[in-house]
Amino acid sequence: MAPEPISPIKTGYIHDVQELGKAKSVAIPERFVRDMAERPTDVTVSSSSSIPVIDVSKLLKGSKDEFHTELLKLSTSCKDWGFFQVINHGIDLVLLESMEKVVMEFFMLPLEEKQKYPMVPGIVHGYGQALVFSEEQKLDWCNMLALIIEPHHLRNPKLWPTTPVRFSDTIEEYSREMKRLCQNLLKFIATTLGLKQDIFGEMFGETMQAVRMNYYPPCPRPDLVIGLSPHSDGSALTVLQQTGSTVGLQILKDNKWVSVQPIPNALVINIGDTIEVLTNGLYKSVEHRAVTHNEKDRLSIVTFYAPNPEVELGPMPELVDQNNPCKYRRYNYGEYSQHYLADKLQGKKRLEYAMIQTS
Ligand code: OGA
Ligand code: NI
Repeated sequence: MAPEPISPIKTGYIHDVQELGKAKSVAIPERFVRDMAERPTDVTVSSSSSIPVIDVSKLLKGSKDEFHTELLKLSTSCKDWGFFQVINHGIDLVLLESMEKVVMEFFMLPLEEKQKYPMVPGIVHGYGQALVFSEEQKLDWCNMLALIIEPHHLRNPKLWPTTPVRFSDTIEEYSREMKRLCQNLLKFIATTLGLKQDIFGEMFGETMQAVRMNYYPPCPRPDLVIGLSPHSDGSALTVLQQTGSTVGLQILKDNKWVSVQPIPNALVINIGDTIEVLTNGLYKSVEHRAVTHNEKDRLSIVTFYAPNPEVELGPMPELVDQNNPCKYRRYNYGEYSQHYLADKLQGKKRLEYAMIQTS
């Protein structure tokens, strides 16, 4: 039986999923009900394999053997999975908890309060539903708050919540730590490629950093909706902190969706389109999505770390040869992010922008 739409509760002209949840109806509004092919039940969810786990302390201060073993694991993770979790990452757990707390407090504010920071459709900045371009487009079962952190002049201070009062300070400190982690990981990634440690740091200039907080309320019919549509990230690296033990993130591996099992205090890292292009496709920016749960909510805090918008990128000459012809053209990161934000999320379609057509 087709689900009965309930009266729509709108934020601007889009629905707010937390408010829908309060209505305690099991009917899902049409705009959230996915076509058959897109429903999360229509694909095999593999639980037998799980994404690799990297111990960062072994890279930073392990013995020579530990360092090499972990570096090899990192290289395989980037090639075969595009995703890994990091443990012993050196970020204070108290800070991770504080971040989770202030972000959760923000999402629990009344709708009117959150709507003081409205996301304009097409611009992923502020509170609301991202990348909505038409009345027909299906919506994700998710509320988001997105903020640019760096470069500083690109911030829009009006979109920074003033409640909870600790929000801004916490996010600043959190972002500094995330930057340090990304810088370290990029050095190790460069080493796995046989390149000098600082190659990405030098290439990226004043880096772009943004944070997206995704709140997925429980959904009475997780089989019909998607929490966050399938996509790959445009960044160089993405760091995802998820709360609790609710499984939600899934990655596409060998054409099957694999759930990422949360490990307490670990962070999930993934390779973004930028590193895929720079490594001429050796390291993969893997398609992923989020699904919902019928009883539990879930929060994810996602940091995107990317080159300066002015920087021109293309496959690094060291990774192009006769056996590995150049697969991507050169482009400017700023143009790419404009292009990235100009359409709804649809798997890896955006990267076609940079692909060299061979047929
Ligand atoms: C993202 C993302 C997944 C999640 O924000 O880009 O992929 O589990 N989030 O929230
Ligand atoms: Ni993502």
